[in-house]
Amino acid sequence: MSNHSESWGSRVGLVLAMAGNAVGLGNFLRFPVQAVQNGGGAFIIPYLVCFLLMGLPLLFVEWSMGRFGGSKGHHSTPFILDSMAPKQFLWKYIGVFGIFTNIAVAAYYCYLESWTLGYIWHSISGTFTGMDRGQVAGFFSDYTSFDGYQNVVFWVFCLALNTYVLSRGLSGGVEKVAKVGMPLLILFGVILAIKGVTLKSGVDGAVYDGMEGLNFLWTPDFSTIWTPKVWLAAAGQVFFTLSVGMGSIQCYASYLRKRDDIALNAMSAGWMNEFVEVVLGAAVVIPITVGYFGIDGMKALVAEAGGLGLGFRTLPYLFQQWGPILAIVAGVLWFGLLFFAGVTSSLAMGTPVMGFLRDEFGFKRTSAAWSFGAIVFILGLPTVLFFKYGVFDEYDYWAGTVSLVVFAMFEIILFAWVFGMDKGWKEITRGADINVPLVFRFIIKFVTPAILIGVFFGSLPGIWDAIVNKAIHTEIAAATDGAVIAELKRKIFFVNISRLLLVAVWGFIAFLVYKAYKNRTRDGRFTTNDV
Ligand code: TRP
Repeated sequence: MSNHSESWGSRVGLVLAMAGNAVGLGNFLRFPVQAVQNGGGAFIIPYLVCFLLMGLPLLFVEWSMGRFGGSKGHHSTPFILDSMAPKQFLWKYIGVFGIFTNIAVAAYYCYLESWTLGYIWHSISGTFTGMDRGQVAGFFSDYTSFDGYQNVVFWVFCLALNTYVLSRGLSGGVEKVAKVGMPLLILFGVILAIKGVTLKSGVDGAVYDGMEGLNFLWTPDFSTIWTPKVWLAAAGQVFFTLSVGMGSIQCYASYLRKRDDIALNAMSAGWMNEFVEVVLGAAVVIPITVGYFGIDGMKALVAEAGGLGLGFRTLPYLFQQWGPILAIVAGVLWFGLLFFAGVTSSLAMGTPVMGFLRDEFGFKRTSAAWSFGAIVFILGLPTVLFFKYGVFDEYDYWAGTVSLVVFAMFEIILFAWVFGMDKGWKEITRGADINVPLVFRFIIKFVTPAILIGVFFGSLPGIWDAIVNKAIHTEIAAATDGAVIAELKRKIFFVNISRLLLVAVWGFIAFLVYKAYKNRTRDGRFTTNDV
């Protein structure tokens, strides 16, 4: 078995890298917007319930699956899953999701990450000075349209940087970036959050108190608590933010030793993510935007352009109200924070792909890293070139939302019912530095799988609507202008092509898994024998 040598340098480094994996653009851009779109205070209760009943249990499960597979020399989900049920050959194909998601999400995530570099540059060079609101918003459209070349330059640079760090390995690259990036991110976040919630009406052109925005998010509202849509959104956000259902936690955990603690480590990284999300993530974009535009104004902006709209189209303009110096400082803090959040997550997407190539095809670390870089470049190109046709959103929906639920549902069934809860519980508690409450045994066995199956079936109608492009067809039906209709039809074309591309990627990975399995059989490296 090509049991490549690689390990974490220190426990602090591991926890920060795992927290860095979880803390990402999702915490600062996706969470606030999901909350607003789903009724503010109405979102928080489902969110917390999903965190406790699905998020935390899945963290335990994924960490222990990873450590288990790693002890058998597997560092990506196809063969981690396979080693848990060696006689049932289909599980390794479920594991394909744990590589697919990372590749497809990285393809659009790295592009988004590169904007933060571009925006740091423009904040420092004073591009936004003197621009009005429309101009700042327009700048974003210019930047992401392909007329410029800057977006491509920053994107390629960002990809190269990620690849370079990955090629330095876990302790020599990923861990170092996390040790620098995570503390800075929290520091920047705290400064901006304080500024956000202390924003006073009448000061710096603010019309409302920033606090109003926070109250909007935090005042529980029970009126929509029985709406399935709100629950689906909450579940989706918990998955995305914790990085569960993706294969990246399993991969990081596979580099642990057999008796290393996972219970306390998983909790530390998971709760750190929640702090950054519900405390810091909630206290920046929404309060600042509400300070200037009020609750309704903020809602309108969210409806118009989502999280990217607030973060990139609106905030740089609002920072200008704080005077020239503070505008630069705030711009660097905000986009710097987003950059650190993004880079530590995208590194976590590279590692499973590299682990797979190294385990199964004997790649060296450097060539595995550059192969990942090349794959992300190729698959990312359509999101860069055809951004305005919604390719980006399409990747996010299929890889960043649907896949996570599907994969998590299968893996928890595998863990609790096939691998078995007796063995599973031993895995979770072996070497544990805390007592894992026994109730989690019950939750993992019954509650989490039941909710996941519910969430999966609950999402089917929405998935069907997406497949038949219902939303775009509704827009076409409502449109009267011929040019608009032609543009929407073009959108359908691009959306369908990008789906085919994603399916092809999935199929290709499945083919590689099949090849790897054949190689193992040929070489007598039966997974069954080394259990
Ligand atoms: N959790 C990250 C965020 O909140 C996103 C993320 C990290 C991710 N690792 C991943 C998404 C792997 C897909 C696959 O932004």
